Amino acid sequence: MNGFNFFSPTEFVFGKGRENECGEFVKKYGGSKVLIHYGGQSAVKSGLLDRVKASLDKSGIYWCELGGVKPNPRDTLVYQGIELCRSEKVDLILAVGGGSVIDSAKAIAMGVPYEGDFWDFYSGKRPEKALPVATVLTIAAAGSEGSGDSVITKEDGMLKRGAGGDCLRPRFSIMDPELTQTLPAYQTACGATDIMAHVFERYFTNTPEVEITDRLCEAVLLTMVKETPRVIADPNNYEARANIMWAGTVAHTNIVGVGRDQDWNSHGIEHELSALYDCAHGAGLAVIMPAWMEFVYKHNIMRFCQMATRVFGCNMDFENPENTALAGIRAFRTFLRGIGMPINFAELGAKEEDIPVLVEKFGLGYGLTWGFVRLSSADIAEIYRIAARAEI
Ligand code: NZQ
Ligand code: ZN
Repeated sequence: MNGFNFFSPTEFVFGKGRENECGEFVKKYGGSKVLIHYGGQSAVKSGLLDRVKASLDKSGIYWCELGGVKPNPRDTLVYQGIELCRSEKVDLILAVGGGSVIDSAKAIAMGVPYEGDFWDFYSGKRPEKALPVATVLTIAAAGSEGSGDSVITKEDGMLKRGAGGDCLRPRFSIMDPELTQTLPAYQTACGATDIMAHVFERYFTNTPEVEITDRLCEAVLLTMVKETPRVIADPNNYEARANIMWAGTVAHTNIVGVGRDQDWNSHGIEHELSALYDCAHGAGLAVIMPAWMEFVYKHNIMRFCQMATRVFGCNMDFENPENTALAGIRAFRTFLRGIGMPINFAELGAKEEDIPVLVEKFGLGYGLTWGFVRLSSADIAEIYRIAARAEI
């Protein structure tokens, strides 16, 4: 097992109605002037935003607001948020929404104390300090409520890039599974796909014998395989929603990844799809992740057999393990199709003729990625091609 630091300082506040306590938690973490950051209309329509404001008022917390975060959040709103926080002397940013809102809040939080352009942090610079961020989560998906990551799209050129640092980890995250009951089935499924992908990116590793991490990964994956069809069939199933919400956090605090090398190539390859077509990140992953698996499985057939047998219940073919590995990948794709996800370019709204543009935007040049299998630009093009034509 590799040595590691595991730092997850977020207080997770989980359960029905807990958003009514957000004023108390802001106080606890030293906030007195809050920016409420939110997305389109979902939090307004559900009355969540009013409940959050009432809770802040009750605790005597001053607040201002900035809505309008789009899925695949843009740099342009981040600049507005930075100006607003500076002029209002905001000391804590409260993100009310999903990964996009939280990531936008984190970008603003880094930008406020920084004299340069906040985009520097999405071009490789590590952030040293940021305003405190807290969240009221409304969708189980990106895991941003517990992660130190943020992904922003620069409108000029539609470049989607990530930034990361422990100072971005939220102080507290309020997680009421009931809030996710208003999600359309498609968004629920996109979230579930993202959660599973966060585990797979850590499951496929070259570091041997990290049994504890393998078993934690499999626990999250098995939970998702069981619970996702239940919420798709019944969006108001609180218990299934609750299990998925916590699985989403566990999948991405990095507790299921420590002690070994990780991959993350599927995420990089997907980000170019959501940048070019503005599709949901989870939907892009449904198309890319099984294609990546098909491209790399020969690198370690037995690890794919492990996924196939332990997660998808495939029988082990001891005479020809490759059959088992392929059956596992097929089972994953069939699962994704079953929850309503796209599995190829046409279903996603992507075009095979755009592959050279996607590869160029990935920007690898003549180098190789890091990960389970190190990929060249030609490999990435081939993964897009497999994804473009995938069938069950
Ligand atoms: O804008 P509103 O009206 O709120 O609608 C949102 C949005 O259209 C809607 N929604 C959210 N909660 C809802 C709801 N609709 C009804 N009821 C609710 N309770 O769902 C749509 C998608 O929201 P979004 O925040 O975009 O979803 P998600 O959490 O999947 O976030 C995706 C973003 O996170 C990034 C992705 O790349 C993408 O940009 N990621 C962030 C990561 C991180 N920070 O650690 C890691 C991930 O791998 C990922 O890359
Ligand atoms: Zn993701």
